[in-house]
Amino acid sequence: MAETNSPPESLIRRPFRYYMRTYPRPLIAGMGFLLLTNILDGLWPLLLKEGIDRITAHVSMNEIGRTALTFFAIMGSLSISRYGWRMGFGRFHTYTAEHLRLKAFRHLTRLTPSFFMRKPVGELMSLLTNDIQTFRNAIGSGLLVFTDGILILLVVVPIMLSLNVAWTLKALAFLPLVPLLIWLVMKKIHIASKNQQDAFARVTAHSQESVAGIRIVKGFALEETRLEHFNQESRSFEQACNRSAKIDSLFHPVMEFGVTAGTVVFLFAAREDMLSGAASIGTFVAFHRYIMKTVWPMTALGMGLSQLQKGFGAFDRIRELFRESPDLDLGGTAPLSHFESLEFRRVSFRYPGTQQWALKDISFRLEKGESLGISGAVGSGKTTLLALLTRQFDPTEGEILFNGRPLRDYSLSDLRQTLTLVPQDVFLFSDTVTWNVGFGQGEQFDDASAEEAAKRVDIHDEVTKLPMSYQSMVGEKGVTLSGGQKQRLALARGVVMDSEVLVLDDVLSAVDTKTERRIDEMLRTLREAGRTQILVAHRLSTLMSCDSLLILADGKVECFGSREDVRKRSLFVQSLQEIQGEAR
Ligand SMILES: Nc1ncnc2c1ncn2[C@@H]1O[C@H](COP(=O)(O)OP(=O)(O)O)[C@@H](O)[C@H]1O
Ligand SMILES: [Mg+2]
Repeated sequence: MAETNSPPESLIRRPFRYYMRTYPRPLIAGMGFLLLTNILDGLWPLLLKEGIDRITAHVSMNEIGRTALTFFAIMGSLSISRYGWRMGFGRFHTYTAEHLRLKAFRHLTRLTPSFFMRKPVGELMSLLTNDIQTFRNAIGSGLLVFTDGILILLVVVPIMLSLNVAWTLKALAFLPLVPLLIWLVMKKIHIASKNQQDAFARVTAHSQESVAGIRIVKGFALEETRLEHFNQESRSFEQACNRSAKIDSLFHPVMEFGVTAGTVVFLFAAREDMLSGAASIGTFVAFHRYIMKTVWPMTALGMGLSQLQKGFGAFDRIRELFRESPDLDLGGTAPLSHFESLEFRRVSFRYPGTQQWALKDISFRLEKGESLGISGAVGSGKTTLLALLTRQFDPTEGEILFNGRPLRDYSLSDLRQTLTLVPQDVFLFSDTVTWNVGFGQGEQFDDASAEEAAKRVDIHDEVTKLPMSYQSMVGEKGVTLSGGQKQRLALARGVVMDSEVLVLDDVLSAVDTKTERRIDEMLRTLREAGRTQILVAHRLSTLMSCDSLLILADGKVECFGSREDVRKRSLFVQSLQEIQGEAR
């Protein structure tokens, strides 16, 4: 059922209609069985009436037996049709939710970093889980309940009219109040349950933070403060639950109000006809049954409407997501099979929504097979520069030329194959070492392949010491690795990609000097094999192994040129020299 294209306009505009057209079969089956169920169910008070009237008319055992058999037949068919509508509706909302979830996830993956900068993770998680679930409830139980209500009324009211028009009009006079009241109560229930959810989310967030940061909490002896804060959150959750329970308990009394009122009115209305003998006892009993039967559909209309409304609200948020488009021009189609040169031409950049320049007027050039070292103080724009180079953002001004052509001309997937970035903040997925190293490499990537890469980044020995070696779980749920170990696994992932240009963002900051030297050695071997490298680094030894250096200060170029040149002219490099000593 996985689909790869973006959500169609018809889905974004009218999700209900779209899904009814996409999965008509389970829906039609569900509706059909529901109608059958309601007809059969609607018939049996009539049978009851017949039974009673036959008994009061003193008919033979045989004839009562026939009525009894009809009862059994109806009950048997009812079981089948009840099973049928459940299956139909169940399939319909399951398919729908699955489809919508895939579409939403797929769309998220197409969006660019600026979108994720704007949206908090929690909000997106809630969209992918809660909102889709709410929409599923609407298209599942909301639609079902609403349809059920209408179908029952369509069956029951005509039967009632056929039994006695005057009784019907009087007994049902109050009933329309029920859907209105239920709808109002449901609205309050939704608000209360939303508050309850929010309060619960705060309790969860607080617990999670306390557990994750327990060492800091203890280190600063903040247990009491955290506990106090937790108490408050927990109490407000408790209050929200109580409020919600209070409103919930209004539901049944409101529903019963309808039956009671109907019954009372009916007693008065039927009195004369019963006394005069115009209506039989059987009719009386059956009619009362039908009054009871109208209460659920009335309730169902109010309930279904409210669920549908809630589902539309949730879909509004999903629609907002679908309306987001990648704010990079992803239309580039020029194929890219090799690397020749890279040039930044007066590139300036501001992060979306900010005023100051993160990069200002950056120009430099790099040829195939060369290595470029980038350095500069924290916040000087190194990571930003690499983000532009890997097209996570486009420059605000100026141009980045790849093989003499603007970067945006190329297809993004070709670009990502030619140029591999190992980012500064390492992220490992909850999976094995091998899986993480071979991320995106497919099935044939095995422990042996991972080992080869691990040896090159000098982490093989440490991996073999893990409980399950290359099959050890890392990431959130796995073994804890040091910062330096994570960095080297990320580096191994980059080396495995074997692309022409390797870009490393300060990936050796947390490894010791000896390890660093071995990795430097490995990088040099790659360069000798014709690979181009761009290395953000702070160690002079690493920087001084590069052909040219770019030093940034406050988003501007402090110095760009050959390493000898820069060593002479850059104040930043001179300060590094003072701190780290003369590097050869
Ligand atoms: N996502 C962002 N949104 C807004 N400003 C940012 C963002 N990331 C970085 N910056 C700003 O851009 C400047 C350069 O940051 P960065 O490129 O990360 O520096 P470096 O990697 O050299 O430490 C800093 O002033 C930083 O505050
Ligand atoms: Mg950085």
